[in-house]
Amino acid sequence: MHRAKKDAAEAVGEAAGVCRHNESQRWLDMRVGSPEDCYRDPPVVPQPPTSSATEESEDFSLLATLLAEQEEIRSRNTLNFQALQIRPKDEEAGVAAALTPAELRSAYEGSTALVVGGTRGIGKSIASTLSAAGAAVVVVGRSAAPPGGVAADLSTAAGCKALVDELSTAGSSSGLVARNGFSFVVLTAGVWPDPSSPYTADGVDKVIAIDLLARHVLLTRLSAAGLLAAKCSVMAVLASGQWLPGPVVGDAEAIKERLAAAVLPRPLPTPPPSGSVATGMRLMLTAAVAHDVWLMGMGGRLPDGVTLLSTFPGLLVSDLMASTFPSWLVPLLQGAMAPLADSAETMGANHAAVLAAATSRRAGRATYWAAPLLEARRPHPLAEDAALGAWLLEWLDGLAEAA
Ligand SMILES: NC(=O)c1ccc[n+]([C@@H]2O[C@H](COP(=O)([O-])OP(=O)(O)OC[C@H]3O[C@@H](n4cnc5c(N)ncnc54)[C@H](OP(=O)(O)O)[C@@H]3O)[C@@H](O)[C@H]2O)c1
Repeated sequence: MHRAKKDAAEAVGEAAGVCRHNESQRWLDMRVGSPEDCYRDPPVVPQPPTSSATEESEDFSLLATLLAEQEEIRSRNTLNFQALQIRPKDEEAGVAAALTPAELRSAYEGSTALVVGGTRGIGKSIASTLSAAGAAVVVVGRSAAPPGGVAADLSTAAGCKALVDELSTAGSSSGLVARNGFSFVVLTAGVWPDPSSPYTADGVDKVIAIDLLARHVLLTRLSAAGLLAAKCSVMAVLASGQWLPGPVVGDAEAIKERLAAAVLPRPLPTPPPSGSVATGMRLMLTAAVAHDVWLMGMGGRLPDGVTLLSTFPGLLVSDLMASTFPSWLVPLLQGAMAPLADSAETMGANHAAVLAAATSRRAGRATYWAAPLLEARRPHPLAEDAALGAWLLEWLDGLAEAA
C-alpha cells in the first residue's frame, strides 16, 4: 500500500473516526470510508439529554469512543470490518467505464439536468462536470441564483412543492425543460445532524427531512408534473449501499420506530427540544439505510423508463459536518480528511460516469454504486424488504400531506 496514503488514513482514523475497509481489492489500498461508514455500534446510546452541559459531555464522549475504537481496531493484527464495509459488488448491474471528455460530451451534450443540492460540495462538482460536457444544468439550493440556479429551501414539504411548481412554470415559459422533461436528475442535497436545533419548521428531524422526505416529495412531484423525461436517469447521492452494523440500525421494526420518533408530536412543542450528536448520528445512519429502502420502493412507482441509482460518493471535503461539530473542530476534521479525499473534479467525473452508465438501467429496481470504484454494489439487505419499502413510502406520503 502507498505508505503516504496509509499514514494519512491512520491519521484520519485517529482524528475523525474514519476507518479502512478490508475488502481484498483496490478499495483497501486507496480509500477509507466516510465517518458515516465508520461509525460503529456505540456502546451506549444516551436518551435525549435534559441540559446542554449533559449534551456536550455526551457529544465529546461519543467522539472519544469513536477515536478509541479506531485505535483498538488498528492495533489488531486481523482487521474485521465486516460490519462497516461497503456492501459487496453487484455483478448483475456491473461497472461503469471512466469517460474521456469526448465520451462525456457524447453522453451529455444537449441534455437537460437538474442538480438538487448543486450549489456546494458534491452536487456542485457534478453540476460543473455535466455543464462542461454540454448539458443545460439547473442547480437548486438555498443559495442558488439565476441564471441556471433556482433558490429553494427544501427543509419543508411546502418548499419542495414550491420548487417543482417553479420548475414547471419556468420550464413552460423557457421551453427548456417542459418539452421533454429532465434527462438527468441528481438528488444530493443532504445534511448532518444539528444537535442545537434538530428540527425543521414542520417538526421533522432535519436529516430525515432533507435526506429522505425532500427527495421523496421532489421525485414524486417531478414525475407527476411530467418533468422527468421518458428515459430519465435519477441519481441519489448519499452514503448508500453500506453494510451497517445491526445493533446500530436494527431490523425493519427498529427503523420504523426510529423514523416515527424523528417527527415531533402535534401541536409542535415550543421551544422544540435540542438533541445530542450521538442520537443525531444514529438517526443519520438509519436515514442512509432508509434511503436505500426508499429508492428501491420508488422503482416500483415510477415509469419503467426511469432509471434509479444511488451512490456512496467517497470523500469530498465539504462543510457538511459544520452543523454537527463545534466550529473549532471542523477545520481540524476537514484538514485530516483532505489527504484522503477526492478532488471536486474526480468526484464530478466519477458521478457523471456512473450516471451515464447504460449498465445501471434495470427496470423497476434501483442500483447502488460506490462512485469512486465505478462499481455497482449490493444495497443494504433491508432495501429488498418490500413490506418495509411499502411502509416507508406510505409514511413519507403521509408526512408530505400533513405538512
Ligand atoms: N462529502 C462527503 O465526503 C460525503 C461522504 C458520504 C456521503 N455524503 C453525502 O452526500 C450528500 C452531499 O454532501 P456534500 O458534502 O456535497 O454536502 P454540502 O457540501 O454541505 O452540500 C449540501 C448541498 O445541499 C444543499 N442543501 C442543504 N440544505 C438545504 C436545504 N434546506 N434546502 C435546499 N438545499 C439544501 C446545499 O445548498 P445551500 O446551502 O445552497 O442550500 C448544498 O448544495 C450528503 O447527503 C452527504 O451525507 C457526503
